[in-house]
Amino acid sequence: MATHSLLILPGDGIGPEVMAEVRRVIDWFAANKGIAFDVSEDLVGGAAYDAHGTPLTDETLAKAQEVDAVLLGAVGGPKYDNLDFSVKPERGLLRLRKEMDLFSNLRPAQCFDALADFSSLKRDVVAGLDIVIVRELTSGVYFGEPRGIHKEGNERVGINTQRYTESEIARVARSAFELAKKRSNKVCSMEKANVMESGILWRDVVQEIHDTEYPEVELTHMYADNGAMQLVRAPKQFDVIVTDNLFGDVLSDCAAMLTGSLGMLPSASLGLPMANGKPKAMYEPVHGSAPDIAGQGKANPIACILSFAMALRYSFDEGEAADLLEGAVEKVLADGVRTADLMGPEGGTPVSTTEMGDAILAALDAA
Ligand code: NAD
Ligand code: IPM
Ligand code: MN
Repeated sequence: MATHSLLILPGDGIGPEVMAEVRRVIDWFAANKGIAFDVSEDLVGGAAYDAHGTPLTDETLAKAQEVDAVLLGAVGGPKYDNLDFSVKPERGLLRLRKEMDLFSNLRPAQCFDALADFSSLKRDVVAGLDIVIVRELTSGVYFGEPRGIHKEGNERVGINTQRYTESEIARVARSAFELAKKRSNKVCSMEKANVMESGILWRDVVQEIHDTEYPEVELTHMYADNGAMQLVRAPKQFDVIVTDNLFGDVLSDCAAMLTGSLGMLPSASLGLPMANGKPKAMYEPVHGSAPDIAGQGKANPIACILSFAMALRYSFDEGEAADLLEGAVEKVLADGVRTADLMGPEGGTPVSTTEMGDAILAALDAA
C-alpha cells in the first residue's frame, strides 16, 4: 500500500494545540487501519520567524512542494503585529499558497444536526445546511500590483490592486463546476460587476466556461454584497459558491457562523495535478490562531481534524477513512460533547481541546 507523505505545519497560537489532536487521529488510522503515513513537521508563521527570522524558509517551502499534502494549523498573533510587513506570519502562509499555486480553496460549511441550535440564526434557517465556498486563492487584491504605502505630497496613501486574468478566473470556475457535478449541479458566482471591471471580467469568463464546457450545470450570478445578505437570510438556496480571494475570505467567515462556530470549518487549498494525478494540496482550518484563547486548552480541534479528513479524501484516496472520521465527529457532537465555542442555549460544561480529541478517538474505536 502506498505511503502518504504529509508535512505538518502547526504554526502559532492554537495551531499547535489543535494539531496535537490531529496527530493522535493520524496515529489512530496508522495503528488501526494500516494506513501508512510518512509525517514530517516544520515551522511556519511566527514560530518560523522566531527561529529563522522569516515566516517561511526556502527549505520548508521545498518540502511542501514535495509531499502529497501539507496540513497547516494557523499563523499570526499580537506578538508579531508590529513586525515589518514582509516578515509577518501571514506572509508565510500567503507565500505557501502562491508558490504552490493553490488556486482553488474549498471551504465547506455544513451544519451538523446536533449544532443546529448553536448558530446565531434560527434552526430552520441552518438545519441541514451543506454548501461549499470555492475561493480563488492565489490572485486578486491579495497579490495584485501596484501595492504598498507611498507618500503623496504630505500624506500617505495605501494601495492594493484587484487584478484577475481570464485564465485565473477560468481555472477556478472549472474547479467549481467540477465540484458542482459531484453535488447538486448548481453554482452561484459572486462578484461586484456593478462597480468593478475585474467583476465584469469575472462574470463574463465564468459564464463563458459554463456555456462552452458545463452547460448542464445551473449557473447564477449575484453581487457579493447581496450574497452576504442571502447567506444569512436563506443559506440553503446555495450549493457551490465561487468567488474571488477577498470576497471568499469574508463570505467564508460569515458561512462559518451558519455551522455554529468558526472552530468547525475545514478547508482544502488545491492546485494543479502532480505526477501521481492528485492535486498539489494544503489543508487548513478556516480559523486563525485565536490569541484570545491560545494556551488555555479551550480551542475546538474539529476544524483541523476535518481538514485532515479532506486530506484523506482528496490527496490520499482514503475516502472510507474520511467517512469514518467525519462520522466520528458527528457522533461526538450528537453525544453532546462540546468545546467552549459550542456552548449553546442549553449551556453545560465545556470539554478541553484534548478531551474533544479523546472523545473523537473513542468514537473511532467504537465505530
Ligand atoms: P481567529 O480566527 O483567530 O479568531 C476569531 C474568533 O474565533 C476568536 O474569538 C477565537 O477565539 C475564535 N476561534 C477561532 N478558532 C477557534 C477554535 N478552533 N476554537 C474555538 N474558538 C475559535 O481570527 P482573528 O482573531 O481575527 O485573528 C487572529 C490571528 O490569526 C491574526 O494574526 C490573523 O491574521 C490570524 N489568522 C490566521 C489564519 C490562518 O492561519 N489560516 C486565519 C485567520 C486569521
Ligand atoms: C484565511 C486567513 C488568511 C487570509 C490570512 C491569515 C492570510 O484569514 O485563511 O482565511 O486572509 O486568507
Ligand atoms: Mn480569513
